[in-house]
Amino acid sequence: MKKFMLIAASAMIILLISLQFFRPEIGHLSVTGDLQAPANVKAILVRACYDCHSNQTNLRWYDQIQPVYWQVASHVRQGRKGLNFSNWDKLSPMDRKGKLWEAVNQIEQGAMPIKSYAFVHSDARVSKQDLAVLKNYLIGTVHETPNDTAKLRAREKQVQAKADQNQQKLPESLNGITYIPDYKNWQVISTSDRFDNGTMRVIYGNDVAVKAIKEHHINPWPNGAIFAKAAWDKLEDEQGNVTTGAFKQVEFMIKDDIKFRQTNGWGFARFKTPKLKPYGKDVMFTAECISCHKPMKDNDFVFTFPIKN
Ligand code: HEC
Ligand code: HEC
Repeated sequence: MKKFMLIAASAMIILLISLQFFRPEIGHLSVTGDLQAPANVKAILVRACYDCHSNQTNLRWYDQIQPVYWQVASHVRQGRKGLNFSNWDKLSPMDRKGKLWEAVNQIEQGAMPIKSYAFVHSDARVSKQDLAVLKNYLIGTVHETPNDTAKLRAREKQVQAKADQNQQKLPESLNGITYIPDYKNWQVISTSDRFDNGTMRVIYGNDVAVKAIKEHHINPWPNGAIFAKAAWDKLEDEQGNVTTGAFKQVEFMIKDDIKFRQTNGWGFARFKTPKLKPYGKDVMFTAECISCHKPMKDNDFVFTFPIKN
């Protein structure tokens, strides 16, 4: 028995040693255009996120040891794929802003930095103060309308012009919400893309919503706040350049805690395809919206910008 243990132990040691030689390459790739942000904002992101979301990964000695290295290397590879601050110049201004929103959302929800990593790497933790610094910076950027929205609008206008020819009257959803063509002139407050279904989304807020963001009155959102979320197919070429494809749908959430009391104070509507076909079989289509938005009920059912004061 003793002999067996000895053999097993030696086998383990040999395995661990030989494992050290199997090292998926993380690669020290070049930094084409590093994130540009105020020094205090950048310092937080460099400290907490750059190990996995940049080409400037700083591995500690204990990260180099197998099997830890396998996991770290895989985090780095996946992390860079979704968000890489070292290729910041490759993103449009709107996408940059969108990625930063997503970053703050991920931190806020406790999803980033990866918990097991922050546990070991104490410098990767993001404190409440750090988060406040990031949010303040982003709120400051809400006013600048990024250049690319102009292009998005131009495309939308074409699509819209076609739809208008077919449809003189604005479509109405089954719960009585009229399509709001003006959303394209609202502020872009976030973008997101879903790898699972290959769409890109832009989230717009009307004046009431933007004012509420600025004044931190977003939980609950004031009556009159409206969000529009438009989705396009996502087209990606071999170089990884991403553009919007065909228009899929636009969704609205209109805040009015009296009129829409039955549906948690929000009027939900979805219009599909450039023809803007109202979604659903009957009024109960809103149950679907609500059930998916329910995890955000402490945030007034809104996903974007989940700021808790
Ligand atoms: C230990 C590595 C690691 C660290 C540190 C880390 N991330 Fe991540 N991050 C990942 C991985 C892996 C993914 C992709 C897997 C997933 O979606 O869960 C990811 C995904 C993301 C995404 C989604 C990107 C997309 O569009 O797919 C965002 C945003 C993000 N991280 C932000 C951050 C921020 C902000 C920080 C710093 C506060 C951070 N991460 C720190 C590994 C890391
Ligand atoms: C499968 C889950 C799911 C369903 C069903 C769903 N949503 Fe959402 N919705 C989301 C997520 C997640 C976001 C956050 C933005 C993103 O990731 O695209 C969102 C965001 C939104 C936004 C932007 C404001 C915000 O909360 O961030 C609007 C407007 C919206 N949804 C409307 C609707 C309407 C109208 C319906 C029903 C017709 C609906 N949603 C059904 C998951 C869902």
